[in-house]
Amino acid sequence: MSKPRSLSVYERNQLLKYSYKESDLLTKGNLPVEYLTGFVDFAGLCLRVNPSVLIPRVETEEMVEMIKQFMFALSTTQNLNSGNFLEVGTGSGAISVAIFDFMQKQQLSYQMHVTDISATALETAKQNFMQFGDSTQIMQQVRFLQMNLLSELPPSTFDVIVANLPYLPSASLEFLDESVRDFEPHRALDGGADGFVLINQLLEQIWQGQFLRKTGKIFLEVDVSHTLDFLQNEYPDLLNRFAITPHFDQFARHRFLVLELL
Ligand SMILES: C[S@@+](CC[C@H](N)C(=O)[O-])C[C@H]1O[C@@H](n2cnc3c(N)ncnc32)[C@H](O)[C@@H]1O
Repeated sequence: MSKPRSLSVYERNQLLKYSYKESDLLTKGNLPVEYLTGFVDFAGLCLRVNPSVLIPRVETEEMVEMIKQFMFALSTTQNLNSGNFLEVGTGSGAISVAIFDFMQKQQLSYQMHVTDISATALETAKQNFMQFGDSTQIMQQVRFLQMNLLSELPPSTFDVIVANLPYLPSASLEFLDESVRDFEPHRALDGGADGFVLINQLLEQIWQGQFLRKTGKIFLEVDVSHTLDFLQNEYPDLLNRFAITPHFDQFARHRFLVLELL
């Protein structure tokens, strides 16, 4: 028999904030509190979530910060206040919405392409965008594209490409916390045999389609196992194409890769 659930301080606060009773969550097995309330706090924004999208994680906020710093540097050192931004696998839209909010505050005007393979995820992302700007402006500035990776992306070059694609090795899914394994979409988690299958396909498409501008950067969230040694052994071609810099998250775990054209 599984242990009865006890609520964390965070969960209690979320229930209070959205006027739920503790019993509303306690009777739902290991349902994440965000799927009950329908909201999550991410990068200082309150975003909508539902079971068709991954609940954005605190580590991902760190990637948003890295992207903001890069865009800020482009604007101050190269006077680049506009350009092209692409996010692949946007889910709730968390990363792109946070960047859109930043751009509005910094008066940057990048064209954004925001993709996902899931139509319901893309609809959630659109809803989240609409909370943070004028709908006409958003529809002019942001293209929401349902597609498998970049399969139908028209030719263009991007200054910033970001992807937090599924990166967990398939065999590790069964060992995930029940609240993740039983409630979050597996399409958002399962990265194939070594967890890097989809990410490698994306990088292959970026390379073949020449989607990255010479001065641009690719920001990836990856599994702890996706180190430079791993890439050298399993995907050596990548190191002949890109300069790859690993970054650690606040928990000192290998978590991000930043790529530039060689
Ligand atoms: C780990 S979730 C990340 C969601 C969001 N970007 C975030 O950081 O919270 C991965 C997302 O990639 C999408 N995805 C999975 N396979 C895909 C594919 N082949 N092409 C495009 N998107 C895909 C999933 O639907 C999911 O929304």
